[in-house]
Amino acid sequence: MNHATDAGSPWSIDAARTLYNIHRWGAKYYDINDAGHVVARPLQDAGATVDITDVIEEAKGRGLKFPLLIRFQDILRHRVEALNLAFRGAITEYNYKGKYRGVFPVKVNQLREVVEEILDAGKPYDFGLEVGSKPELFAGLAMQNHLGCLIICNGYKDAEFIKMAMLGIKLGKKVIIVVEKLEELRQIIAISKQLGVEPLLGIRARLLSKGAGRWAESGGENAKFGLSTADLLAAAELLKAENLGHCLKLLHFHIGSQVPDILTVKKAVQEAARLYAKLYKMSFKIEFLDVGGGLGVDYDGSRSAFDSSTNYSLQEYTNDIVYYVADVCNAENVPHPDLVSESGRALVAHHSVLIVEVFGSIEKIRPGEFLKYGDNEHPLVRELLDVKKNLGKLNKLEAYHDALERRDDAQHMFTLGMMDLPEKAKIEDLYWQISREVVENYKGQPYAPEEIRKLEDSLGDQYLCNFSVFQSLLDHWALDQLFPIMPIARLNERPTH
Ligand SMILES: Cc1ncc(COP(=O)(O)O)c(C=O)c1O
Repeated sequence: MNHATDAGSPWSIDAARTLYNIHRWGAKYYDINDAGHVVARPLQDAGATVDITDVIEEAKGRGLKFPLLIRFQDILRHRVEALNLAFRGAITEYNYKGKYRGVFPVKVNQLREVVEEILDAGKPYDFGLEVGSKPELFAGLAMQNHLGCLIICNGYKDAEFIKMAMLGIKLGKKVIIVVEKLEELRQIIAISKQLGVEPLLGIRARLLSKGAGRWAESGGENAKFGLSTADLLAAAELLKAENLGHCLKLLHFHIGSQVPDILTVKKAVQEAARLYAKLYKMSFKIEFLDVGGGLGVDYDGSRSAFDSSTNYSLQEYTNDIVYYVADVCNAENVPHPDLVSESGRALVAHHSVLIVEVFGSIEKIRPGEFLKYGDNEHPLVRELLDVKKNLGKLNKLEAYHDALERRDDAQHMFTLGMMDLPEKAKIEDLYWQISREVVENYKGQPYAPEEIRKLEDSLGDQYLCNFSVFQSLLDHWALDQLFPIMPIARLNERPTH
């Protein structure tokens, strides 16, 4: 529990903001209004404010049921603009000679409305798509009408996939096939000869730089995808032998999604820029350096290198990429390539809000005295009553350990059939009462042991919400990804729990 809920301090909207950290993870897209409702501000300070409670009332009026997924299309638009403007700002600042040509990885959100909005918002910036499967390529070819934009094909590719990409090239689209394995290159060359179409090729490099975080295994020398340095040289030889060296247009890497630490990005970009420069000097006139995904989202608002956060801003991320590529290219005396990034979650994460109904709670400590204690209590109950009575005089941590031990003893006795339900209930009730007092005692102290902090968490009420975690929060149950959760109304009242 946060100090903001301490009864002593006055309650305010600012206290609610602090309690739920909304001004950090909300990234200026979410805030609390004076009525104590969560509001969305899809264009941050530059546009209208939408009261989420009003949206829900409207949805209810139309007969829609919870859980409700609300999506703010304008946030998508704003994110696309923010990403492009951040790259443009860095390009001007570091006198970078190439352009930024981002792509949206369709796998990150395949909703038609999402992809269409991103493409529309990205038009002035030649924003393209990244596709990782045949169906995505079909959709990409149909939706991407702006001929100059990139369609980057990653992932496993069979002959059909490659043929479809070639067809896209024939239609005048900039479809780049990224080679993830050396065998793929041989197959692409064979199909290109068959169809009489020259491919636009990219190569995914398997960098040695590797990050931390949940998706770190996507990068590093043991990554599933990408060519090792030896494979890269073999691919270069093969392209030269086939007189297709001029088809190599792009060098790609991907160090994993949600990179929490900017140091990872800095290292990887330098390594990749060096690879680009060396290949360029081997007379491969590569036009694009693709830094993949990884731009993280500060889900918990802590601005740290924890898995669910990032210790950098969007501008720092783009600055580092532009600066280091320029730096390496200048040192190697090769042209600045156009830069591509495949940011997925950073574009879409903020735009959707899942609203679920809370229909009850499970409280550890029941309000009121529903258990009556007499003179003839079970010895373990008596011991716990003693601990509770003398808690003021006892060392709190020791008292907590004693209570924990009594509760464990009671559990064994119950399992062995040596204790009845009323005794077990009393022991559990006393255990939680003692725990609460111990936790209260540590409040305001500069240091609380780890087990007390965990105890504080376990004392919290559990809210029962009507929705499916498996359907709506896949990344949470599968990968432990955290998402911000908060009440959306009555934030002008001090929370009692
Ligand atoms: C090759 C590739 N590019 C881009 C992305 C998107 O990553 P993010 O959502 O972190 O930007 C992924 C996702 O894992 C990926 O595998």
